[in-house]
Amino acid sequence: MCGIVGYAGPAGSAADTSQRPLDVVIEGLRRLEYRGYDSAGVAVVAPDTAQVSSRKKAGKLVNLTDTLAAEPLPNATAAIGHTRWATHGGPTDRNAHPHLADGGKLAVIHNGIIENFAQLREELIAEGSRFLSETDTEVAAHLLAREYRLAGDLSAAMRATAKQLDGAFTLLAVHTDAPGTVVGARHDSPLVVGLGEDENFLGSDVAAFVSSTREALELGQDQVVTITADDVTITDFDGNPVEPSPYTVDWDASAAEKGGYRTFMDKEIADEPQAVAQTLLGRTDRAGHLQLDELRIDEALLRTIDKIVVIACGTAAYAGHVAKYAIEHWCRVPVEVELAHEFRYRDPVVSEKTLVVAISQSGETMDTLMAVRHAQEQGAKVLAIVNTHGSTIPREADAVLYTHAGPEIAVASTKAFLAQLTAAYLLGLYLAQVRGTKFPDEIAAVLADLREMPAKIQAVIDSGDRVRMIARWMDSRSVLFLGRHVGFPVALEGALKLKELAYIHAEGFAAGELKHGPIALVEPGQPVFVIVPSPRGRDSLHAKVISNIQEIRARGARTLVIAEEGDEAVLPYADEVFWVPQSPTLLSPLVTVVPLQIFACELATARGLDVDQPRNLAKSVTVE
Ligand code: AGP
Repeated sequence: MCGIVGYAGPAGSAADTSQRPLDVVIEGLRRLEYRGYDSAGVAVVAPDTAQVSSRKKAGKLVNLTDTLAAEPLPNATAAIGHTRWATHGGPTDRNAHPHLADGGKLAVIHNGIIENFAQLREELIAEGSRFLSETDTEVAAHLLAREYRLAGDLSAAMRATAKQLDGAFTLLAVHTDAPGTVVGARHDSPLVVGLGEDENFLGSDVAAFVSSTREALELGQDQVVTITADDVTITDFDGNPVEPSPYTVDWDASAAEKGGYRTFMDKEIADEPQAVAQTLLGRTDRAGHLQLDELRIDEALLRTIDKIVVIACGTAAYAGHVAKYAIEHWCRVPVEVELAHEFRYRDPVVSEKTLVVAISQSGETMDTLMAVRHAQEQGAKVLAIVNTHGSTIPREADAVLYTHAGPEIAVASTKAFLAQLTAAYLLGLYLAQVRGTKFPDEIAAVLADLREMPAKIQAVIDSGDRVRMIARWMDSRSVLFLGRHVGFPVALEGALKLKELAYIHAEGFAAGELKHGPIALVEPGQPVFVIVPSPRGRDSLHAKVISNIQEIRARGARTLVIAEEGDEAVLPYADEVFWVPQSPTLLSPLVTVVPLQIFACELATARGLDVDQPRNLAKSVTVE
């Protein structure tokens, strides 16, 4: 997600001003570049000035530093800086942070998603606020300005503002009335304090300031922090003082970029609960009805759709396969899943009644982009499920449903896959709502189940040590993966992870296919992962997979079973069991895939391979 940096230095008089606030913030933004972003900006304040001074530019940080070289900012005593990963509003100069308010005396930067920004924006416009951007952040800036005019104190105003926001946010603000002060607030989004000598720092993670200090304080949920050169004050949103627990950062700068994790992939697996939660944020109205505003496809047209074709590549295609089971079950519309590079050269049967859904993390995969164009030439409407704002595929599609996984750096897709599943579930439920194939209470029940999934994903991540230990000792040159129903695309994804990370031959099969050939591959010691459906799910599916496990075990396979907690039927036939929390069948891929991701990541790491940049692979395949 976005990168945030704040600095507060001595602010007694104009003599205390320097370029250090800006230098520290730019250095911090450089250390946060790895997080991925699409625009950057800074704001500085100094004593006795009427307005904050700010610069912001779309694109890479170099665009901002070039601008600063051409149009330097004045010496200052405090500064804030931001690298933005677009969520509301495209990656443009205007939408870049900071956002100003209070006649240019206040600057705000933000990480997260403010769910109730539309309603607040209307209120503020009615009170006379003028908006320059499409962002939810600018709403927070004008709200903070209103509260500051009432409170006369930036920290109190921040508390009042934070209590009115729904969603996830880290906010930083500076005001010309408090030239040596930076105030921050956090809810469901990280913010850490760096403790310096006669200066203090704020950051979305310690990478922002680790080159200046390793002494830090972690902010807790729903807290406001006020930093000056020689003081750090923390309260809850009601103003009650909070005593933070200091710690010393024991990471070096490069490790800090990965948040202390060994690899970006490890970090991105750890981010999966948040990726799912963020993708769910802001998609229902106060009555609980789904509202996918950015879809931009007329509901009447969605009611005429008689077929859905999913086009994607690799992991994104496997997300499409899972989506097929869910959408067909909820909407009773046939769903075909096509590899984009095959679709492109077929004469697909599509018409204006076909909804083509293009799934892509990068939004730049050339195979998928060309398939989008092919579908549109055939008269189909195209809806893109994409993670990267401002990329080509959503620009050319007729509609977009963004995932909010944040930037995914590792080539092997993990958190983006879970976010793609989540977005596909939301699309399926929205179609069921629009077409009336599910009652509102049924849709609400599934949404409630979806909201419980981030905690279940976290539970699987927390219990990952066993699968890591198995991975470290795995010496096989071939691994098979079996699954049925939604477990089948999970088996395909587990095999792909192992192929692309550990360069091991791995193959995923529909478990029912075993007798039709693949069982000939099974020999003594052959490791086989089996994703077992819930015993509470579709009738006989569970029993059939248990008998599949018996068949391969009888031929000497080493059975590594992913099963639902409490499913003791697997125990007699499993050499290893990796338990996942009970979940509705259609949502279970959100948890059953996680042990397979961890396994592949750990095995590749144990073999000393480059997990984040595997050989021969690129994060975005922008050639056909
Ligand atoms: C998945 O781990 C791979 N990196 C690859 O299969 C990827 O999913 C595929 O290239 C599609 O990329 P996209 O989602 O950016 O379109």
